[in-house]
Amino acid sequence: MQAMRLCSGPQAGPSGRCARSRTRCSAAVAGGKVYIDPVKKECTAFAPATVANLGPGFDWLGCAVEGEGDTVVARVLPDQPGKVVIDKIEGDNGRLSLVAAENCVGIAAIETLKLMGQPSCGVGLTLHKGLPLGSGMGSSAASAAAAAWAVNGLFGSPLTKDQLVTAGLASEAAVSGYHADNVGPSLLGGFVLVRSCDPLELVRLPYGGNGPLYFVLVNPLFEAPTKQMRAVLPRDVPFKSMIHNSTQGGALVAAILQGDARLLGSALDSDCIVEPVRAPLIPGMAAVKAAAKAAGAFGCTISGAGPTAVAVVSDADVGARVADAMADAFRTEGRLEVNSKAVVRLDPEGAKFV
Ligand code: HSE
Repeated sequence: MQAMRLCSGPQAGPSGRCARSRTRCSAAVAGGKVYIDPVKKECTAFAPATVANLGPGFDWLGCAVEGEGDTVVARVLPDQPGKVVIDKIEGDNGRLSLVAAENCVGIAAIETLKLMGQPSCGVGLTLHKGLPLGSGMGSSAASAAAAAWAVNGLFGSPLTKDQLVTAGLASEAAVSGYHADNVGPSLLGGFVLVRSCDPLELVRLPYGGNGPLYFVLVNPLFEAPTKQMRAVLPRDVPFKSMIHNSTQGGALVAAILQGDARLLGSALDSDCIVEPVRAPLIPGMAAVKAAAKAAGAFGCTISGAGPTAVAVVSDADVGARVADAMADAFRTEGRLEVNSKAVVRLDPEGAKFV
């Protein structure tokens, strides 16, 4: 194959040269096709946990949080253009499929290669699960985001994070539901408003003023698969509830832009459409919410589809007390063991190379 410095796919400029100078891009022409070549043999990426919905922001708001996440190693499979195989998965207790087309990392990688155009090689993937499955912390989205970012990095990052959200969304649609409020922030970091999925339109919401903001995340030993938690959602919503949640959603966005943790917590606490039908399916959730507020949280709700509960505070010490109170409530009222409790900050970066 005679190598030529050309760019194919969505990054190509009118001259066939890379339209974005910050990307390294290598492509070659063979048999009339323009192939995009890898720039390294292996690339590793990490993507963080996310809190979707934040109460009334169901399916349209989410944020990335520091701490645990998933890691994907992508390696070049020479002479197998476009092929994706999953080499290994660690940390899932053998529960996830190793068939690429059935697994969120495989689907995200396949979609990423499609977005690039004509890759000259295939990709082998190793997934290290840091997040528990069905936890409400964006586990499948973190896998998809890490896979998309690792595969993109293997080819010199020709695609932007915004473009890669499409690949992550395809993965989410196949394994949990058609929503970008986990995969958007897991890739981009910070708070992300999903204005539309089709066509995809994301709005980054900077947290104003850099005031202190902490999320308390308590994950009980209980699984709430997103597909099942979506099956219980109401088909119709009373007009009054629509007005209430729209108002609280507006308050959520204002709180983020103004950097007002108190308003953020109180708006997040106020969902009257989704939380009321999901909370009864999570043992102890109502008591956890009450305990969080009694211990000083500004508000508490279900993180994503649950069962993790999320509370908002502006002080790390208060956060530690809130975490203890929430964990106690899961144990005593829900009769659930607690898998993890953490007081974490916003992750402003999202997916990153490691
Ligand atoms: N918005 C999605 C849901 C997030 O609540 O179903 C799932 O993590």
